[in-house]
Amino acid sequence: MKEKGEKIAMLTAYDYSTAKLVDEAGVPLILVGDSLGMVVLGYESTIPVTMDEMLHHTRAVARGARNALIIGDMPFMTYQVSIEDALRNAGRFLQEAGAQAVKLEGGVSMAETASRIITCGIPVMGHIGLTPQSINQLGGFKAVGKTSDAAARLLDDARALDEAGVFSIVLECVPEPLSKLITEKVSTPTIGIGAGKYCDGQVQVISDLLGLYTDFVPRHAKQFVRLADSIKQATSDYIAEVQSGTFPTEKQSYAMDESVLADLQ
Ligand code: KIV
Repeated sequence: MKEKGEKIAMLTAYDYSTAKLVDEAGVPLILVGDSLGMVVLGYESTIPVTMDEMLHHTRAVARGARNALIIGDMPFMTYQVSIEDALRNAGRFLQEAGAQAVKLEGGVSMAETASRIITCGIPVMGHIGLTPQSINQLGGFKAVGKTSDAAARLLDDARALDEAGVFSIVLECVPEPLSKLITEKVSTPTIGIGAGKYCDGQVQVISDLLGLYTDFVPRHAKQFVRLADSIKQATSDYIAEVQSGTFPTEKQSYAMDESVLADLQ
């Protein structure tokens, strides 16, 4: 797609029904992101997310999606401790959960790990810029690469991942001119989130796109619909109908042969 100049639209999904819908709508890549921890499981960050939680949700997504490439996001501390751990855990996404690729956070420091995983036949997506698993070092959800040192480091990170053979790199919260430069300098596609329009593709967290996650709306998110409002409205309508006795009606009920009832009585 990068070679053809076709923009890549990637989305996250965490469950069967959503994966089925976004797949039917034609999204080519589904990321089962560890954002799962925040938008589905209610943690304050992605740090507590476990391998078991990721595998559980990746399986559900794999059952729903027929065509999209499914990428499993490797959770915190499942690939940093040793390359052996990284290989074993990356393999689990493919063998046990039906993903076709994995994503990991980090640039230069993770290039060797990425390369070893790729050598084993597992496609890897990189992720640099704001890397939420390092939030305690970064000091918050904010743009990365604004100073000349930080920008040079980010370019090095992108180059290292590109050389390692990743099939794409997520650039999160990176100033637009820098993500443009990185996109021009690497051969692999860049997928931006808060990284401007020059990336080869974009990724959004589905709960942001649908207006479902209401704790906060990141600057990089666009709510294409506000499902939170629709859900609250539908719920209060339901409560009101149950209380007034207007739900259920005959349409939602099952009839039975009156003679059966008569026999019972
Ligand atoms: O976990 C996630 O959803 C992500 C995307 C924001 C790229 O890493």
